[in-house]
Amino acid sequence: MSDNYQSFAHNPIGKFLVKNLGLPNPPYLERYTAGDPLVKGTVLVGAAKGSTLGKNVTDALKASGIESTTVVAPGKKYKGLVFDATGISSAADLVELQEFFTPVLRQLAGCGRVVVIGGSVDEAADESAKIGQRALEGFTRSLGKEVGGGSTVNLLHVSKGAEKALASTLGFFLSPKSAYVSAQVVRVGATGITTAPVVKDVTRPLAGKVALVTGASRGLGAADMRTLARDGATVIGLDVPPLEADLKALAEELGGGYVVGDITSPEAPAEIAAYIKEHHGGVDIVVHNAGITRDKRLRNMKPENWNLVVDISVGAPQRITDHLLDAGLINDGGLVVGIASIAGIAGNNGQTNYASAKAGVIGWIQALAERVAGDGITANVVAPGFMETEMVKTIPLGIREAGRRMNSMSQGGQPVDVAEAITWLASPGSAAVSGNVIGVNGQMLLGAS
Ligand SMILES: NC(=O)c1ccc[n+]([C@@H]2O[C@H](COP(=O)([O-])OP(=O)(O)OC[C@H]3O[C@@H](n4cnc5c(N)ncnc54)[C@H](O)[C@@H]3O)[C@@H](O)[C@H]2O)c1
Repeated sequence: MSDNYQSFAHNPIGKFLVKNLGLPNPPYLERYTAGDPLVKGTVLVGAAKGSTLGKNVTDALKASGIESTTVVAPGKKYKGLVFDATGISSAADLVELQEFFTPVLRQLAGCGRVVVIGGSVDEAADESAKIGQRALEGFTRSLGKEVGGGSTVNLLHVSKGAEKALASTLGFFLSPKSAYVSAQVVRVGATGITTAPVVKDVTRPLAGKVALVTGASRGLGAADMRTLARDGATVIGLDVPPLEADLKALAEELGGGYVVGDITSPEAPAEIAAYIKEHHGGVDIVVHNAGITRDKRLRNMKPENWNLVVDISVGAPQRITDHLLDAGLINDGGLVVGIASIAGIAGNNGQTNYASAKAGVIGWIQALAERVAGDGITANVVAPGFMETEMVKTIPLGIREAGRRMNSMSQGGQPVDVAEAITWLASPGSAAVSGNVIGVNGQMLLGAS
């Protein structure tokens, strides 16, 4: 959907009114275009005293082709600021965040990126260290609300042993690929997978990989198909019979395949498995994107609408995944992505069915991540906020406009924003990222994000 208010806010009269009435001011967000350098500018790197990542950060930046420096040049604009906060081990140490960031924040370019890196809170040596490391979350989320201008602030917690598995994740969070991802906390190495291969061709990290996307013919699913294919994957789309023509056209355009069917049908797991086995022998990336809403307050909820929403969101994805795992069809190094929603985290009026299902996705994927870690398979949740797709056209105008503006970017996200997050998770370089919930919501201002 187009955002007429954003265009208005950028014309001369709109600018005047936005400024004088204090209206939301949605910036134009920079997004990644294939062929561009990952980061167009220099990243400034700093560290708290006693931090342990050292050269791992500069090595990770170099591996992603990102130019960096540790020396602040007066007046220079930086496209990114990275702060190694692993050395922060008490409340008193926290001032190092202020000492690094306050003098350089004015030098952060528009649509800039801030990444704070800490250690695992669970592994912190003592009570004081837990204070220091957990505090990074409050810092990140608050700075995310301050930076403005389309800039983002995110936090990585790196477990011991995973220090060399940062390149793909730092590359994502420093690039325009993370345009609508802010205030997120990502745990690297948390499920015990602490290594990740070095990706040789960062423009096609998914070459040789096969990806299945459900609900693929439009909206977020279609964007997932395009972005996974851009990065080298062979894509298989799945959607319901009424959307077969769109699905076929997209699959053919991308040189991929497609399966027509309803994921909730009892035959679906076996049919999907048979297709994958026959055409590819296995699958590397499974994106459970299909979803619907059937909104009603609980007092008016019909059981069929409760059951349908829950089964499409989480029941069928669990059955399909278990079938593929039992048949040995998810390859080593594979990834399962569950699509949740901000509604499953913060709750939403009229969505007890949808929010239960989407919160269930989080529970399922986090348990799955633990179960499959030993097989080198990862599982993560992507939780979109307000995204500009067909789905949100059904929301009443007033609520729709509130949902669109109540985030740090004052706008809805684009389908590609979710697709970029999934594509980052699918990279072999992200092998140590598992069991995470990544909100793609521009940092929702209401509820948790
Ligand atoms: N758009 C948003 O703002 C938003 C926000 C949070 C979460 N999400 C989630 O993202 C996912 C994609 O949403 P979207 O906005 O692109 O929606 P959409 O309605 O545009 O697309 C959903 C797709 O899923 C397919 N689908 C539905 N039921 C199916 C079934 N039983 N079997 C196979 N395919 C089925 C539909 O045919 C459609 O192609 C959903 O899981 C949705 O809950 C969307």
